[in-house]
Amino acid sequence: MISGMAEQIRPMTVTDLKQVLDAHPRFWGDRDLRAYHIAPLVHEFPHTCLVAEDPGTGDGVRGYVLGFVTPDRVGYVHLIATRDDTRGTGLGRRLWEAFSKTAAEQGADRLRAITSVTNTGSQAFHASLGFELSVDEDYNGPGDARIVFTRALM
Ligand SMILES: CC(C)(COP(=O)(O)OP(=O)(O)OC[C@H]1O[C@@H](n2cnc3c(N)ncnc32)[C@H](O)[C@@H]1OP(=O)(O)O)[C@@H](O)C(=O)NCCC(=O)NCCS
Repeated sequence: MISGMAEQIRPMTVTDLKQVLDAHPRFWGDRDLRAYHIAPLVHEFPHTCLVAEDPGTGDGVRGYVLGFVTPDRVGYVHLIATRDDTRGTGLGRRLWEAFSKTAAEQGADRLRAITSVTNTGSQAFHASLGFELSVDEDYNGPGDARIVFTRALM
C-alpha cells in the first residue's frame, strides 16, 4: 500500500486526463469507460475535476474525480476512481470530501452520483460514505436501471 502522507488533491489538467486514460485498466479494470472521460469537463468545470497525487514520488495520478455543480445545487460526480495500488487507503473518501468542499463553495447543497446495478463495489463504497441508495429502473432509458446515490454535503 502507498502512504498518503504527502498527497495533494488539486485541479485536473488535460495532461492528467491523458495519463489516466493511458492507465485506464489500473483505475477501471476490464470495464472500458474511456468514452466518459471527456476534456470539456476538465475545461469547463476546473473547480470540481480533481486529481490526487504525491509530487515527491513521481508515480502520477493516484485517484481522480470528475464532476460539476448543477443549477439546482447538486454536486454531481460523473466519475470517481482510485488506482489499483491505492485502494482501501481512504483515498476515495478523501476525493469525495475534497469534491464536496469545492462544490459547496460553488453553491451546492447536496451530492449525487450514479452507478450500474452490477457495480457492487461502488455501491458498498458509497454506502460506507453515508449515501442513500435507490434504484431508478429507467434512469438510462426504458428498462435500463441505475443506482442513484444521494446525501447531504460532507
Ligand atoms: C470505488 C472506489 C473509488 C473506492 O475507492 P477506495 O480508495 O478504495 O475507497 P476508500 O479506501 O476511501 O474506502 C472508503 C470506505 O468504502 C469502503 N469500500 C471501498 N471500496 C469497497 C468495496 N469494493 N467493497 C466494500 N467496501 C468498500 C471502505 O471499506 C471504506 O469504508 P470505511 O470508511 O467504513 O472503513 C475504488 O474501488 C475504484 O476506483 N473502483 C473502480 C472504479 C469505480 O467503480 N468507481 C465508482 C464508479 S461510480
